[in-house]
Amino acid sequence: MTRILAIESSCDETAAAVVEGLPPRVISSVISSQIDLHKAYGGVYPEVASRAHTERILPVIEEALSKARTTMAKIDAIAVTYGPGLIGALLIGVNTAKALSYSLGKPLIPVNHLEGHIFANFIEHPNAPFPIVALTVAGGHTTLALLHDTKRIKVLGQTLDDAAGEAFDKVAKLLCLTYPGGPEIERLAKRGNPDAFRFPRPMIDDASLDFSFAGLKTAVLYQVRELKRIDTKTKTDLCASFQQAALEVLVRKTIRAAKKHQARSLFLGGGVSANQKLRSMMRKAVAQDLPDAFLSVPPLALVTDNAAMIGVAALYRYAQGRPGNWRRVRVDPNASLGRNDRLG
Ligand code: KG4
Ligand code: ZN
Repeated sequence: MTRILAIESSCDETAAAVVEGLPPRVISSVISSQIDLHKAYGGVYPEVASRAHTERILPVIEEALSKARTTMAKIDAIAVTYGPGLIGALLIGVNTAKALSYSLGKPLIPVNHLEGHIFANFIEHPNAPFPIVALTVAGGHTTLALLHDTKRIKVLGQTLDDAAGEAFDKVAKLLCLTYPGGPEIERLAKRGNPDAFRFPRPMIDDASLDFSFAGLKTAVLYQVRELKRIDTKTKTDLCASFQQAALEVLVRKTIRAAKKHQARSLFLGGGVSANQKLRSMMRKAVAQDLPDAFLSVPPLALVTDNAAMIGVAALYRYAQGRPGNWRRVRVDPNASLGRNDRLG
């Protein structure tokens, strides 16, 4: 059975995991979050992230191996996120992985971070029927993708400007909430009225499957400027109304993509899919509009950044006979989905 050590360092989480087999099994998954380091800056400070990754990466790898009760000698291959992400952060994971691969003579499998978010769904649902439409909503990306099998991923649509998570983080910042903004907005939105403010739902009825969140963020900004004083009730209403607008777009477009491509499964992934309201709206929409489709919503620990998802994507690549050579692995901060065939 193939056993892989996976490393993830694309943003503000230093993570390592041991995974094995097909169907994939997670043996250990260790995540060292840097959120507390970045809070003071109101967002991820790239240089601080790189330094923290440098300090933490080896202890995190050691912990993942020890929790899995294994050693490098029993690992068949190493997997690492090569992009997209912050270049300085990615370099720490990729160079650590290259050093391990070179010194131990083990294959190195480069994995696209977004592909990892999609493949996290196969951990609990390895037999989800194809075709699959996957919505990946993270801090830097909002992507709808189509899978006819595990080999090829086709991008159906993506954001033309801000990512959904980025919009949550920016709206949170202008409401003076702490970083990361998504969970804070969700917390306040629970007490607010989603109909209090009518914010735009950008591109919701557009024929394309692309997204745009910059206009929605700006609409919240103008509303905030217009309000002379923002008391707690108004703040919760702003959060609820913004969240409702953003989530309606995500759900409506995902359903449209699934109908158009006759999807038999829908996958969710990325930090924003930790949002309980998004999960419940998506469940409701699938039950109503696509009652025969299967909806996969991974547990919270698998939707935000982790290395288990990178390892799982690598297990499929390895099984397809694409083990990868460290010499050919390159960091690509702007890597997009579906183009990673040229690597590894
Ligand atoms: O996937 P992720 O951990 O990292 C990236 O690949 O970007 O996603 C982080 C993003 C952040 O923008 C954060 O605000 C958002 O996910 N997020 C949420 C929630 N939890 C995290 N957004 C909305 N609601 C949440 N509960
Ligand atoms: Zn991510």
